[in-house]
Amino acid sequence: MADPISFALVGAGVIAPQHARAIAAHPQAKLTAIVDKDLDKARKMADEFHIPRVFGSMEEMLKEDDIQVVNITVPSGLHGSLSVAASQAGKHVLVEKPLEITSEKMTAMIDMSRKHGVKLGCIYQRRFMPTAVAVKEALRSNRLGKLVLGDVYQKYYRSPEYYKSAGWRGTWAVDGGGALMNQGVHGIDLMLWLAGDVESVFAYSAPLLRDIEVEDTAVAVVKYKNGAFGVIQGTTSVYPNQGARYELHGENGTIVFDDEGFRQWKLLDRPDEVAPEVERRVSSKIDPSQMDKDGHYILVDDMIRAIAEDRDPVVSGEEARKAVDVILAIYESGRTGREVIVGQAQASEAAPGISGGGR
Ligand SMILES: NC(=O)c1ccc[n+]([C@@H]2O[C@H](COP(=O)([O-])OP(=O)(O)OC[C@H]3O[C@@H](n4cnc5c(N)ncnc54)[C@H](O)[C@@H]3O)[C@@H](O)[C@H]2O)c1
Repeated sequence: MADPISFALVGAGVIAPQHARAIAAHPQAKLTAIVDKDLDKARKMADEFHIPRVFGSMEEMLKEDDIQVVNITVPSGLHGSLSVAASQAGKHVLVEKPLEITSEKMTAMIDMSRKHGVKLGCIYQRRFMPTAVAVKEALRSNRLGKLVLGDVYQKYYRSPEYYKSAGWRGTWAVDGGGALMNQGVHGIDLMLWLAGDVESVFAYSAPLLRDIEVEDTAVAVVKYKNGAFGVIQGTTSVYPNQGARYELHGENGTIVFDDEGFRQWKLLDRPDEVAPEVERRVSSKIDPSQMDKDGHYILVDDMIRAIAEDRDPVVSGEEARKAVDVILAIYESGRTGREVIVGQAQASEAAPGISGGGR
């Protein structure tokens, strides 16, 4: 067997342990270094996960020749600069969602990874939910026929304290948005993967309850490039938490699923067919022995295979930017009250005023 791939983790915050566990569980990976500008946090994680090297800045870590992959788990608006620096140093990059928060920074990340011949992958773990994989397969084999509607509803609850738990949360400059750019980007990525690329959006977006700059609630109607319509809803101000729900309607039937499983699987030509049996979504936080079914593990594994096979990661930079481009178009539409073509939105921090009423 080949030598294990050597990973470094940059950012020792909330999501970092998920990466550390995924790398530790993989037989062809080892976690060699941890970086945080807060050295105490880096040391604490190093102790907990037995990580041999600790750094207070990424620049120092990038000098380590044996490190091959850098997992970036810092606040969203810092993904770009760190990813570009890692690519320039010849390291592959696996970055947390969202890929970045502006179009320009996403382009720079993608261009730099291509220029230096390194991989760029992004963590959108919802794509690996067993339900989502089964729906993707059904759509691939055209079970629904021509798509009519692709809707995603993400109604979450985040308390006011959540937004105070780290200074970057709820800011245009570093979070890049709220209910959509932070939480909702997962479901939007999943819906685009299933229903196809979005051409244009009309939207409302505003902080309806929370004392934050960015939206806690947004609603958009979308037109997919394949002609279907859809609704994207996201909020962090609904109590109790409703989770996410995905609805796909085609000329030959309907598939509806949520975080718990399938809610409808109804096909016109096979009315007796029931939804496929799928395993329930697993979380390594609950059962470490199930780690290989966890989304982070799957994406670490995919990065290792992408390097070995010299192919793009399944969630490449180009794939990962699509959901962010849709969100930027939603913000622009919310600000202007106009339909916005995806890919033509301005940077969100350039125009902070948003529509739909204040807090
Ligand atoms: N995939 C998921 O389900 C998921 C879940 C949570 C967070 N995330 C994403 O992960 C990223 C981090 O979120 P979090 O909740 O862990 O944030 P956090 O605030 O808990 O942690 C971020 C860490 O990065 C460190 N940091 C900041 N700037 C740095 C720099 N220049 N160099 C080194 N370290 C630096 C901070 O000190 C902090 O420890 C965000 O982009 C977020 O969207 C993804």
